Amino acid sequence: MNLERRTKKSSKRSVLVTGGTGYIGSHTVVALIAAGYNPIIADNLSNSKASVLKRIEKITGKLPLFYKIDLRNTTALNKIFQKNSITSVIHFAGFKAVGESVAEPLKYYENNIQSAISLCKVMDRHKVKKIIFSSSASVYGEASANPIKESSATATTNPYAHTKLIIEEILKSVYVADPEWRIALLRYFNPVGAHESGLMGEDPQGIPNNLMPYISQVAVGRHKKVNIFGNDYPTVDGTGVRDYIHVMDLAEGHVAALKKIDTTIFSVPRVINLGTGKGRSVMEILRAFEKASGKVISYRITKRRPGDIAVCYADTKLAKKILGWKTKRNLADMCNDAWRWQSQNPKGY
Ligand code: WQD
Repeated sequence: MNLERRTKKSSKRSVLVTGGTGYIGSHTVVALIAAGYNPIIADNLSNSKASVLKRIEKITGKLPLFYKIDLRNTTALNKIFQKNSITSVIHFAGFKAVGESVAEPLKYYENNIQSAISLCKVMDRHKVKKIIFSSSASVYGEASANPIKESSATATTNPYAHTKLIIEEILKSVYVADPEWRIALLRYFNPVGAHESGLMGEDPQGIPNNLMPYISQVAVGRHKKVNIFGNDYPTVDGTGVRDYIHVMDLAEGHVAALKKIDTTIFSVPRVINLGTGKGRSVMEILRAFEKASGKVISYRITKRRPGDIAVCYADTKLAKKILGWKTKRNLADMCNDAWRWQSQNPKGY
């Protein structure tokens, strides 16, 4: 079904959101509408469903313009820019499963890198030179010290993370060639949770790779127990420690960056961590989710997952300093909102 909607003249605050039907993208679209922007979604629905559009409308009262498109189709992408007065881009679209990227590296390099190059070429053709890129804390690999600063060394340990680093470098090179570009490179830690309405949330296709969606699917009976990948790490209780950030905090971080993208702060490309600055173990997450859901979450300890690191959490000073943004939601909010979404949508969208 061709989901392309009738074109309408967009307002001057039109923001193209690639990957906008995905988990983080869709929550960011809600935050953009709340902030008075006009988000236009481009997504190929390879890892998301168009049904999220109606949920966005239910929450915001606005049905965003949506184009079903593969960003590597430069001709089709060009048409979107011809039809709409886009002023900036938030680029989420890309494959993002770490394990899959190890098994199928060429699929990841081809899709993620070619999409970014096609997008930049079309943006340049239309003199749209403001971009916020969805990067990842996974570019730090086994960081030397926590909390991790933006100046920490990068050391990618899988093709997925490497595509994020390569795209960061491509964008920096685009800036060197044309300093009119305004570029924000946002490195997310571990996004979790859902919109407070329970109408939107994380809906991974197939068996979830990530901890929180797996736990919440155990809570609704889709799996018997959580496999905890190792409890022999040098941490508070031996399980892995990560910086879990509420997806709506993350979404609002993008709006904060968009509001600043025209200021002198972004006269050069800026790398910014988006996290809470707090590390929490797998067991702490599991116990917090039991409290939020009222369910017992069964688990078993298995061996470590290859490629996993022990500890990873953000230094958040730069985000506060240059975006005037910090997280507002706590672990209970993350688990309560994730549970509300999952219990109201046991099979996802
Ligand atoms: C968290 C912790 C696991 C699942 C993710 C994404 C990556 C990037 C960064 C965006 C670890 C443990 C997990 C399970 C478990 N995101 N775990 N049992 O590995 O930090 O990376 O965030 O760019 O794409 O993969 O997140 O949720 O997979 O793991 O014990 O079934 O939970 O060992 O300690 P991770 P995760």
